[in-house]
Amino acid sequence: MTYKNNNIPAFFNGSYMTIDQVSISPFDRGFLLGDSIYEVIPVYAGRMLAGDKHYRRLMDGLQSIGIESPYTQADWPGIAAPVLLDNEAAQLLYIQVTRGDEQTRKHRFPVEVPPTVLIFSIPFSPPVDENHLGCAAHVQDDLRWQRCNVKSTSLMGNVLAYRQLYVDGVANDEALLVRDGRVVEAPSSNLFMAKGGVIFTPPIDNILPGITRVLVIDIARDLGMDVREEAPNIVMLKDADEVWVTNSMEELKPVISIDGQTVGQGVPGEIWFQLFKAFQALKA
Ligand SMILES: Cc1ncc(COP(=O)(O)O)c(C=O)c1O
Repeated sequence: MTYKNNNIPAFFNGSYMTIDQVSISPFDRGFLLGDSIYEVIPVYAGRMLAGDKHYRRLMDGLQSIGIESPYTQADWPGIAAPVLLDNEAAQLLYIQVTRGDEQTRKHRFPVEVPPTVLIFSIPFSPPVDENHLGCAAHVQDDLRWQRCNVKSTSLMGNVLAYRQLYVDGVANDEALLVRDGRVVEAPSSNLFMAKGGVIFTPPIDNILPGITRVLVIDIARDLGMDVREEAPNIVMLKDADEVWVTNSMEELKPVISIDGQTVGQGVPGEIWFQLFKAFQALKA
C-alpha cells in the first residue's frame, strides 16, 4: 500500500478510519487549551522499541494531570496495532489524549466529558547514522513551565526555542536549555556529555523522562561505563569531550560545537559511537 498524508490509518475515539476522516471539535480542550498528553513510539520493521516504557509514561502523564485513561496500559498496544503502516522500515506511532470536547470554551473544572483519543503513525528515516558529522548547538534560557516531566502538548516554550534558532539563521542547529545555571535539556531531546570517560546526564526532576535517555543509560552501564545523573553548568558542558542529545526520532545525535566553541575534537566522539552502535542493535 502506498501511503499519502491523507490516507494513513487512524484511530479516533473508538473507531478506525483514515486520517482525513478524523473530525476534531473546535471545542476540544486539546485544541483550545493545549490540555492534553501525547506519546511518540518508534517502530522498526513493525516492532515497537520499548513500547511498554512509552505506554507507562503515557499512563503516568495522564494520571499526573488528572485525565482518566479510557484504556489500561495493557489495552494500548492492541488498540494501536491496526494503525501501524505496512512494510515501513521505521515509523513513529503518535498517540494523543485530550481532556475532551466540552462543546464550550472554559478553563474551569469540573470537566465531565470523555477524553478524546487520536492515534496514527507516520513513516520516518532515522536522520543520524554512524557517519553523522555532528551538529552545532546554542545555549538558550529555558522558557518552559515547571512540569516539564509531563509530556504535554502545551509546547510553546519548546517551539519558541526552535523559532529562536530559525530567527538566528540556524534553524537546523540544536538549542540547549539552561535553567538555574544548569543545562537541562534540548527542546525535543535529552542531553548527555562525557568528560574523562564519565558520562553525565541531567536528572529527571524537571525534564522529560526520555525513553531513549533510559535506554542509553542502560546500554552505557551494561558496557561498564560510569553514568552520573547530574546537570552540567555551561562551563562544564563547553569543556566536555563529547556531547550528544537523544530522542526517539534522532536516536543519539552528536553535538560538535556550542555557541561556536568546538566540543572535544570537533567530531562525533568514541563514546557516542559505541553507544550509537549498541543502540542500533536494540532495533533489530
Ligand atoms: C523536551 C523533550 N525531551 C526529551 C525528549 C526525548 O524523549 P524520548 O526519548 O522518549 O523520545 C523529547 C521527545 O519528544 C522531548 O520533547
